[in-house]
Amino acid sequence: MSRFDGKIVLVTGGNGGIGAAAARAFAREGAEVIVSGRNRQTLDEAVASIGSKAVGIVADVGKLADIESLMASIKARSGRLDVLFANAGITRFGPIGSVTEADWDTVMNANLKGLYFTVQQALPLMGKGGAIVLNASVAASIGAPDSSVYSASKAAVRSLGRSLGAELVGRDIRVNVVSPGPIHTPIFAAMGMKPPEISQLKENWATGIPMKRFGHADEVARAVLFLASSEASYVTGANLTIDGGLGNF
Ligand SMILES: NC(=O)c1ccc[n+]([C@@H]2O[C@H](COP(=O)([O-])OP(=O)(O)OC[C@H]3O[C@@H](n4cnc5c(N)ncnc54)[C@H](OP(=O)(O)O)[C@@H]3O)[C@@H](O)[C@H]2O)c1
Repeated sequence: MSRFDGKIVLVTGGNGGIGAAAARAFAREGAEVIVSGRNRQTLDEAVASIGSKAVGIVADVGKLADIESLMASIKARSGRLDVLFANAGITRFGPIGSVTEADWDTVMNANLKGLYFTVQQALPLMGKGGAIVLNASVAASIGAPDSSVYSASKAAVRSLGRSLGAELVGRDIRVNVVSPGPIHTPIFAAMGMKPPEISQLKENWATGIPMKRFGHADEVARAVLFLASSEASYVTGANLTIDGGLGNF
């Protein structure tokens, strides 16, 4: 028996770094995995790497109609949802003076509003024993320059883990948060950064991480699977940092 045999799992942003790693790990452990994202091509690539039981559905978490139709597709296809990994998100860096209203809306729309309504719309498909894992960031709990909007969005996600955990405990649905530190994923390229800038940034940041390195998406995936599994049956409202010690010392 594998931990997720027969389970239906949705990973939003399952076509990206951490989401795709988690989706592959859930599938390896027996789950039927649905991945969502905005890009059809990268969704198809993710599905090919996850395996024959996976399905990719185009849905922008910033659009409530897309979230509703994603959940309607899952209902029609699988009838229910056992695990939600609300992972889709984006980063924007810049000093406060450079942040535009559009920057604010783009980040908050995906990272906070999108995540919130993903959970809301998933809940009618989830029953007793369901597990929700929210992807925040170590940025939620440390002060980092040029990251105010992103960090605020992730601090709100951390708060949602607590409040929704408390709200859903009576329905026997657990809600937990993962807070990754800097992880090797395409997130910096998705911000429009060029490879030399990304290498420089990674070199600079790594010196400030107690373990002196970026993490790997698989290292976050392992934490996600733990929180989503019955091994974490007495864990809800918690935050698990996977950050090489960055937010803890
Ligand atoms: N990498 C890190 O250092 C790090 C650290 C802490 C937390 N995180 C968090 O981890 C999560 C995953 O990031 P990642 O590092 O794996 O980056 P990534 O490779 O860029 O993946 C982000 C994923 O989110 C999806 N996405 C973005 N906006 C979306 C939207 N509006 N609707 C639906 N899907 C959307 C992207 O797919 P489409 O482009 O197809 O939509 C992509 O699959 C994010 O929430 C991020 O904030 C990352």
